[in-house]
Amino acid sequence: MKTQTKVNNEPTLFNRSRFKPTGRPLFINKSKILNEIEKLGKEESLVSLRNSVFSLEDELRSVKTDKAGILNIDSNGDAITMSQKYIFDQLDQIAESQTIDRAKYYVERFEKAITQVKTSKINDINLNRWKEYDDIRTDSLWVIDKRDSTGVHTAGYWGNFIPQIPNQMLRRYTKKGDWVLDPFVGCGTTLIECQRLGRNGIGVELQESIAKKAREYISFERNEHSVITEVVNGDSATINFSEVLKKHNKKSVQLLVMHPPYFDIIKFSKNPNDLSNAPSVEKFLEMMNTIVGNAGSVLEKGRYFVLVIGDKYSKGEWIPLGFLTMNKILQRGFLLKSIIVKNFEETTGKRNQKELRRYRALVGGFYIFKHEYIFVFKKR
Ligand SMILES: C[S@@+](CC[C@H](N)C(=O)[O-])C[C@H]1O[C@@H](n2cnc3c(N)ncnc32)[C@H](O)[C@@H]1O
Repeated sequence: MKTQTKVNNEPTLFNRSRFKPTGRPLFINKSKILNEIEKLGKEESLVSLRNSVFSLEDELRSVKTDKAGILNIDSNGDAITMSQKYIFDQLDQIAESQTIDRAKYYVERFEKAITQVKTSKINDINLNRWKEYDDIRTDSLWVIDKRDSTGVHTAGYWGNFIPQIPNQMLRRYTKKGDWVLDPFVGCGTTLIECQRLGRNGIGVELQESIAKKAREYISFERNEHSVITEVVNGDSATINFSEVLKKHNKKSVQLLVMHPPYFDIIKFSKNPNDLSNAPSVEKFLEMMNTIVGNAGSVLEKGRYFVLVIGDKYSKGEWIPLGFLTMNKILQRGFLLKSIIVKNFEETTGKRNQKELRRYRALVGGFYIFKHEYIFVFKKR
């Protein structure tokens, strides 16, 4: 919390330096809070406005201090939720204004944040309350120490991605009820996140046993938004995506998430159509190109395509698989929106193996991979 500016011996009603609002949601009586905000808007001097803000903050601190019943959601008025920190930040900003006009501007903005929802065409982020979404990433460097292992998420499938990747992407690039396609669905991480966030999801997986496992994991996850998820066992290069969508009366999807094998770094199966069995980098890129063409054909125009991929080191040479694949996609006419660099989690390898790798890097003049890419494209 910012320090408050004190003017004209203005009293402080409680020691705010000792009160640290948290991100926990407050359940608030909408009509009562609007009433209080309206009163703030009618204040005529900065001093009286600040005093009213401080007494409102005092009320909001806890049910015990809440004489106006703002936290009483059982009495008249709809209940709304806002994080405690967000509300206090808004109120602090009003109190810290240097002019009454500026303060009133913030009061109006706070009222709007409660009464109006402003979203874009591609997600449900309420732009009138954008400061509340402090867990949505907007920077291009992601250092994530721990994978989300809640519910059915498991690190058990060698080569799956951390659930935070689809979670962030779904919240940035889809609305509730949208359709998502993942042509390399593996054990279903994307679809589990779809189910949690209320998005419908189609996944394709080449290996029957893995597709079965994905269905099993997804079925263990609660489906509180009653969305549809389907895992199809097939080859994403040749599957007819329009036919798959037709079953659900859909012609297109609103987000494409692809997490292909990083060429042959991990061999997923013996199937020659598996991208991890491509005989060369050129062939891998060709297979990727075919799948991007096939899956990209059902992506709605103006919507997003997320590719998660890493590079490879072979025979003394760094192979920039990520950028080579990116170029193929750009050649298909997609627009590049972002390149995110994400750290690899620390593997639980033995200490002497790590030391050996470090020694080899020092001798061989290269750096050890610690990152992968998340490319974000938009369909023109
Ligand atoms: C990197 S993994 C994806 C993991 C997934 N993101 C997860 O979290 O479980 C790549 C997957 O693509 C599958 N695959 C490889 N070639 C494929 C193809 N032509 N069509 C469909 N799936 C394929 C592999 O079997 C593997 O499960």
